[in-house]
Amino acid sequence: MSQTDRSEKTAAILEGDSFESYSRKINRQFAANVYEGLTAQEKFLPSKYLYNKRGDEIFQQIMAMEEYYPTRAEYEVFELHCQEMLEHFAQNQVPFRLIEFGAGDGTKTKVLLQYFLEQDTDFTYVPIDISANILQELTADLAENMPELKVQGIQDDYFRAIDQLRASFNGQQVRNVVLFLGANIGNFSHQESIGFLKEIADHLTSGDLLMTGFDLKKDPERVLNAYFDKNGITRDFKLNLLQRINDELDADFDLDNFQYFPIYDPMEGSIRSYLVSKQDQQVTIRAIDEVVQFEAWEAIYMERSQKYSISDIQKLADKSGFSVIHNFYDADQLFTDSLWQLP
Ligand code: AVJ
Repeated sequence: MSQTDRSEKTAAILEGDSFESYSRKINRQFAANVYEGLTAQEKFLPSKYLYNKRGDEIFQQIMAMEEYYPTRAEYEVFELHCQEMLEHFAQNQVPFRLIEFGAGDGTKTKVLLQYFLEQDTDFTYVPIDISANILQELTADLAENMPELKVQGIQDDYFRAIDQLRASFNGQQVRNVVLFLGANIGNFSHQESIGFLKEIADHLTSGDLLMTGFDLKKDPERVLNAYFDKNGITRDFKLNLLQRINDELDADFDLDNFQYFPIYDPMEGSIRSYLVSKQDQQVTIRAIDEVVQFEAWEAIYMERSQKYSISDIQKLADKSGFSVIHNFYDADQLFTDSLWQLP
């Protein structure tokens, strides 16, 4: 199929015409992205779609795994350094807004919130998450367990939320402190992260802060094991996206015909993970009227998880217009939360 035909079909899926006959209501953005990914020369699926209800559950299991060190390490960073963090956030007694991108269930952030409340700090917590479910659970939980906390949740994706934030930033005497935790930045390519960080910078004012969680480069075996656990939980996390395509787009992926395979490139510092077709096979995706051919051992690129050195982090800050104020570490220096300021 030619490139033009492919773009035309993508547009048709997004607009819904010519797929009118398909009776079920589908998420067209998801359908179009799946179509583009599985008809590309080198097949891929965007990792943001891993997080449906089942995906969120499996990711919770991943965070509890022995092999998956980043969550525990970042938790420790917060426990060790919440006092010092507060000194930076509340400088000169200016009230601040703690704006968290991709808040999730807020387990780590609660360490900070609890400590800030105990210190009688003047701040508002602004959690942002694309998942209405997760945000709802988080705000309900906070209302119950931290009733004194001022919370203003926003349900949106990061980039649209940034627009909303820009509007609400106007003319207010507060310091904005953006949190982008959990090594989520690692899912972006180098170009995407710079674009994203610059976009944040564009919507902040001089003196505002950004704290980002970075998983650090370390023993490559330890990194690889975090994504290749012996119980196959990470495998199930990736296979669940094929299941999601089956469920939402009426496809017939046979999950047993795909093998999970991650690699770690210690020079680039990136985990790249794949689902590999174990045989020649074809998969029908009825909702988009498409049959996808797989050759034996052909791969689908599923996710990247970037690891950083301190100088990588310094370069990212330079390129996106921030100054590094401080790097906070866990005791074993597996992870850092890097605090940046807009000059
Ligand atoms: C949520 C993007 C930080 O890359 O470590 C964990 C996702 N994927 N195991 C990561 C993930 C497989 C995770 N992030």
